[in-house]
Amino acid sequence: MASQSAPLIEWDEVLALGDEAIDRQHKGLAAIINELHSHRDSPDRDAQVMRCLTSMYLYAKEHFWDEEAFMDRVGYPDRAEHATLHCEFVQKTHDLTDHCLTDASPCEELLDFLLTWFRTHVAVEDAKLVAFAKGRGSAG
Ligand SMILES: [Fe+2]
Ligand SMILES: [Fe+2]
Repeated sequence: MASQSAPLIEWDEVLALGDEAIDRQHKGLAAIINELHSHRDSPDRDAQVMRCLTSMYLYAKEHFWDEEAFMDRVGYPDRAEHATLHCEFVQKTHDLTDHCLTDASPCEELLDFLLTWFRTHVAVEDAKLVAFAKGRGSAG
């Protein structure tokens, strides 16, 4: 019987920031990354990786756009630094995707990066933004 591996990103209270729209989008991103993880050993891995990453790029672009507009609305003082982190994520993911596909190697480096990014950017950087907005009474 084929075993179903655990999802890479388990949703928990550290990731739930308490802003409904942002949390919903983060869950969507986690679901795409988990799907990518589930296909890492598929016979048609490259096609699945490309499909999942295309979805992830589109979803991340929309999410970053919304999050940066949210920062503008609440007057977040670290907006520029935060937006730079979003750009770096897109660039790094792009580079690791190239490695993953051109070297025909496992996607572990890419998956490790995505997991670490989720656990640091969402749980730390995005959490600071939501805490700031709540402090100004503008979250939700
Ligand atoms: Fe985010
Ligand atoms: Fe962010």
